[in-house]
Amino acid sequence: MGVVALVPAAGRGERLGYGLPKALVPVGGVPLLVRAVRGLVDSGRVQHVVIAAPPSDVDIVSTVTAPLAPAGGAVLVVPGGAERSDSVRIALAHALGELPGTTVVLVHDAARAFTPPEVVKAVVDAVEAGCPAVIPVLPVVDTVKEVDAAGVVVATPDRAALRVVQTPQGFDARVLSRAHASGLHATDDAGLVERLGVPVATVPGHPDAMKITTPFDLAVAEALLVGGRG
Ligand code: C5P
Repeated sequence: MGVVALVPAAGRGERLGYGLPKALVPVGGVPLLVRAVRGLVDSGRVQHVVIAAPPSDVDIVSTVTAPLAPAGGAVLVVPGGAERSDSVRIALAHALGELPGTTVVLVHDAARAFTPPEVVKAVVDAVEAGCPAVIPVLPVVDTVKEVDAAGVVVATPDRAALRVVQTPQGFDARVLSRAHASGLHATDDAGLVERLGVPVATVPGHPDAMKITTPFDLAVAEALLVGGRG
C-alpha cells in the first residue's frame, strides 16, 4: 500500500517568540520539522512525505528536508494556506495528484516533533487493518469542565470517557479526500471525518508526542533530549 504523510508546517509559531516559522525552530540544534519528518520515516511505514511550508520559506524547507526522503520515496514541499485545514487540503491535493497509488494518508503536525516511530507504525497498521480513520490518544488526567460564555460551569463530563488527541492521524485516502471536499469545519482532520459519519478508531498515543506551542513546551522538549530521547 502507498502511505503518504502530510505535514502541515506553515504556522508562523508566534507563541514561541523565536522570530522564525515554528517548523524551523531548533531543539538541540535540529529544527522541529526535521525531527518530525525523521520520526515518520524511521517508522519504516511511510513512502512519501508532503510538507506544507510557509509560502515564503518553501525553498529553505525543501533544502533542509530533502536529505530525509525515505529510500525510494520523496519529500515534496508545497506552500501552505491561511489556516491549518487549508494547508492540509493543499498538501492532500498535491499528494493525490503527484503520487498515484496513495491508499493511506497520515496527517502529522510538525509541532509534534518527538512523536515516537512506534506511534506512527501503530496508526498505519490500524488503517491497513481496515479502520478508515485512526487517531493516537492519551487518557485525560485533569478533570475537565464545560463552561458557558460567562465562564460559569455547565457540565462536568466523565473523565474516564475523555481522551486527548495527538497526531499522526491516519486515514483511508478516499475518506480524507471526501472529508476535505465536504466544506465542513472541525479543529482536526478526524473531526471532519467524524462529521461524515465515518467511525474513528483510537490507538495509544505517547507523552513525547506533545505539541510544542509555547516556550514552556520547548523547555520540556530540550529536557526530553537531555533524557536521551529524540
Ligand atoms: O497553530 P497550531 O499550533 O495549531 O498549528 C498546528 C500545526 O499546523 C503546526 O505544525 C503548524 O505549522 C500547522 N499550520 C499550517 N498552516 C497554517 C497554520 C498552522 O500548516 N496556516
